[in-house]
Amino acid sequence: MSGKLFDENKFAAVARRAVAEGVVLLKNDGDVLPLQKGTTISLFGRSQYNYYKSGTGSGGMVNTKYVIGVKEALEADDRYNLNQDLKAIYDEWIKENPFDAGIGWASEPWFQKEMVITPEIAKAAAAKSDVAIVLIGRTAGEDQDNSATAGSYLLTEDEHTMMKNVTEAFEKTIVLLNVGNIIDMKWVEKYNPSAVAYIWQGGQEGGNGVLDVLSGDVNPAGRLSDTIAYDIDDYPSTANFGKKKRNIQQEDIYVGYRYFETFAKDKVLYPFGFGLSYTSFDIKCCSLEFDITNGATVVATVTNTGSRKGQQVVQLYLEKPQGKLGNPSRVLVGFEKTKEIEPGETVECEIHVPAYYMSCYDDSGVTGHKSAYVLEQGTYTFYVGGDVRAEESASADISETVVVEQKSELMAPPIEFTRVKPEINADGTFSVVYEPVPTATKSSVEHRQEELPAEITQTGDKGYKLVDVAKGRVSMEDFIAQFSDDDLVAIVRGEGMSSPKVTPGTGGAFGGVTDSLLGYGIPVACCTDGPSGIRMDSGKKAFAMPNGTLLASTWNLELMEELYQWEGLELRKNKVDVLLGPGMNLHRNPLNGRNFEYFSEDPFLTGKCAAYQLKGMHKYHITGTIKHFALNTQETSRHYAEHVASERAIRELYLKGYEIAVKEAGAHAVMTTYGPVNGRYTSSNFDLVTKILRDEWGFEGIVMTDWWAKGGNVGAGDGADMADIVAAQNDLYMVTTSAADNTNNDNSLEGLANGTVTRADYQRCAANICRFIISKPVFFRLINENNEIDNQLLDEADEEELSYDNMIDCNFKESSVFAIDPSEIRTGRDSANMLSVAIKERGDYRLTMTVRAKNLSALAQIPLTVFRDRDIVKTITLTGEDREWQTVSVDFADCFASFYIKLYFAQNGMEIKDVNVEFVCSKEQEIHDMLARLGED
Ligand code: BGC
Repeated sequence: MSGKLFDENKFAAVARRAVAEGVVLLKNDGDVLPLQKGTTISLFGRSQYNYYKSGTGSGGMVNTKYVIGVKEALEADDRYNLNQDLKAIYDEWIKENPFDAGIGWASEPWFQKEMVITPEIAKAAAAKSDVAIVLIGRTAGEDQDNSATAGSYLLTEDEHTMMKNVTEAFEKTIVLLNVGNIIDMKWVEKYNPSAVAYIWQGGQEGGNGVLDVLSGDVNPAGRLSDTIAYDIDDYPSTANFGKKKRNIQQEDIYVGYRYFETFAKDKVLYPFGFGLSYTSFDIKCCSLEFDITNGATVVATVTNTGSRKGQQVVQLYLEKPQGKLGNPSRVLVGFEKTKEIEPGETVECEIHVPAYYMSCYDDSGVTGHKSAYVLEQGTYTFYVGGDVRAEESASADISETVVVEQKSELMAPPIEFTRVKPEINADGTFSVVYEPVPTATKSSVEHRQEELPAEITQTGDKGYKLVDVAKGRVSMEDFIAQFSDDDLVAIVRGEGMSSPKVTPGTGGAFGGVTDSLLGYGIPVACCTDGPSGIRMDSGKKAFAMPNGTLLASTWNLELMEELYQWEGLELRKNKVDVLLGPGMNLHRNPLNGRNFEYFSEDPFLTGKCAAYQLKGMHKYHITGTIKHFALNTQETSRHYAEHVASERAIRELYLKGYEIAVKEAGAHAVMTTYGPVNGRYTSSNFDLVTKILRDEWGFEGIVMTDWWAKGGNVGAGDGADMADIVAAQNDLYMVTTSAADNTNNDNSLEGLANGTVTRADYQRCAANICRFIISKPVFFRLINENNEIDNQLLDEADEEELSYDNMIDCNFKESSVFAIDPSEIRTGRDSANMLSVAIKERGDYRLTMTVRAKNLSALAQIPLTVFRDRDIVKTITLTGEDREWQTVSVDFADCFASFYIKLYFAQNGMEIKDVNVEFVCSKEQEIHDMLARLGED
């Protein structure tokens, strides 16, 4: 056993377990699964050659040491045989039809061309094997949503042909869905395969985790975190999804199962919380205790009535009285994943529900308590079972409506619209009716005006350092009082991407970003994507974990905590203080391109998953940035599309998960969204980031914008409105190239001059940032305290392999400049090119290139990292806006022997011409020049 603190094998074992627990088995006719030892398998579907470890965009850019897909895992297991004839056909076809990565950011196709499976191929394979496994693969991601078309939400023609011919030829067909998010499932009825499972996108250990379920080493215990309806148009949000300017969330709180279980049960193919096991369970509700102060405690028993040991997810739903507000017929209020229960064994689960989590928010005053969380009078029925259709129940009555917490009206919509409400029919079912949504009586800007912070009188430099605050020798106020206006406007500017001040290739640097701030003893903290592994565009490898949807499907909070402890340690090892994740927007609609990064359509499950991931990272003083706060539920027009929602939906649904993460796990960093909500950009919404997040929930950390976000009111123009952002107490603007030089031309100084923002606003954000940094490893390292872990991790550091991917010889023996044919340089995603430089003589050398971005979306990030042997010299990041040719150069000083220049492209999308390596000056010449200069002096 290795004595290492950061042990990748242990990390991998936990990730593997998470994948296995996240697999959701939807169908298993005739117990076709688990596979018997000795089974010969015909593996269909091209994604056996390109297992999707994650979706695309910032949440998927982890450079991994390896990725194990389903094919690799099955091949490595000698209990099973793969049909080699079929494999040979695929091998040939794949050579002709390689993976299409697209060009640049957000352009990878959401599906890959499939080999046409003729009836002959299928029959020949059936004759040689016992069972067929069909893999369907999909990706999706940032900047581009899914669509309800073939190759995205729907199967392609070729996939239909494959399903048809395989299911006709084979008695046993198992379909595995390697997708980030639910897809259309109508084909199950049509082709009737024996088994169907969502295997999601499982990171680098994905195939191994799936193998454990296929083999029965792990009894499937994943449960759906979303409702799978018959048709995309059955989802009530679809009508108001994907619009470019404004999406009115008319379905209100009736998202996912809240809608289907209330109004349209018959439209559901697989209900929320559903998933099969290789055994069976009987869940009984034994007792309910309830009182208004303490909330409810439900005790249930679970008995394994089958013949294999396994885990069950005991789910607790609440049916509230319809009252005056109206309510969904089921709301998830608690759950517990059991241990492995032996056949015949019974275990007890006790689930506690605080009264606050049972209450509803009255945004209209219809209950007589406007802006309050209330428990309306009536019967509260708890249902306990294995999915949302749970039947075991117990009830309690509340005789009079009670206020659980009084709040104030915040973030209400400025415009009129109507929302869904249930109306009861004579037979006890519900129909949809619409009621007007209460509009805002005061704006976020007016709220701010009422609560302007007090300014701390500037003192100038008194010699106080941040460590003096940490040691209690100076108050934070006295420390901040030293800051000049230049310090104040600089500290709220984060730098990136790939700032040379922090770990190479990471997303952002903040804190001591100028010489003056460094002088006050503020170190530079580092953050990077996230959520499912560390993104380092330098090409450095990191562990790629299973995605959000998969982890939510485990319903195993302790497992998530354990997994993110490893993540915390790996972040710490790489000197990253903050992960840009977990992503916790709701799966409002299955077509959101980033659903793979998020957890569920349900806010309670979402909040719990995020809270436990944070708890894991907090063990090592690393934190995660919960994002994107809030209502970031689509990618289409992500900078502009406005979300309009009622205050009730915002509080009960879209903010609830964040509230849980803040209150239960002490979330310490938040990222606001690109898009506006109810007329105002979230990054400058005082109601959201000050009144609700900090004042109501007690948040004490930092709030940062999304990368190059805007601010202000809808339609306010294109620039980032820094003054508005700081006035709202969104502490950090991410990102600029140089905080000192204000390379983004932000309006901080104008804002201070014209009074839209005050020095006190800047001081408040500066204090938040400094307080945050004091609690992070970057500060421990600075003051050399609490850093035993860092020292041990340093000792464990391994040398990154020098890769010889694409070797180009640069020989200087003949001339002083070596021109490289640009077509020899591979610029595709994750390509390393090695320029082997045989030097002319000892001295300084320079690489010069002319580069530009291909025609991509403005927000595309295309990093190129240049190494000298193993060391990073520079990362050059173009954005989609860099469409003109520009010349960049990288200097290599005092090269005394031949060396390698490595050009590493983390993303494709960069065009290159005129690549030269040039001999600039010899060492001898340099010394000669230096002596001459000294002589002159
Ligand atoms: C994404 C964020 C991400 C950031 C930094 C943005 O484009 O929306 O989720 O953390 O980039 O990569």
